[in-house]
Amino acid sequence: TPPFPRYTRAEVAQHRTPADRVWVTYGTDVFDVTEFVELHPGGPDKILLAAGGALEPFWALYAVHSEPHVLELLREYKVGEL
Ligand code: HEM
Repeated sequence: TPPFPRYTRAEVAQHRTPADRVWVTYGTDVFDVTEFVELHPGGPDKILLAAGGALEPFWALYAVHSEPHVLELLREYKVGEL
């Protein structure tokens, strides 16, 4: 598989709405979760709080995400690396 494209945090921050695409980071990985926003079990409003930035501060508060199946789901949306 080819290497993923590299993005800066500033580029990720330009993707904060479904119209501009919804990107998030986890570690050094970048994800386009636009298509997952409406599928999120915690609702679209909550997932959009993390739009354009890091998931870690939010997932530290919502431990429901510390399960292997959540990271497996997230991996499907990977589009790049920081
Ligand atoms: C639940 C994924 C971002 C709040 C879940 C669940 C998944 C998920 C798969 C169900 C987990 C389970 O029941 O086993 C994601 C992904 C995210 C994301 C892929 C980002 C790309 C967020 C953010 C917040 C949040 C940023 C809060 C600001 C919640 C809450 C639930 C939940 C409160 C529990 C919903 C319920 O069971 O009533 N999320 N989440 N999530 N998520 Fe997220």
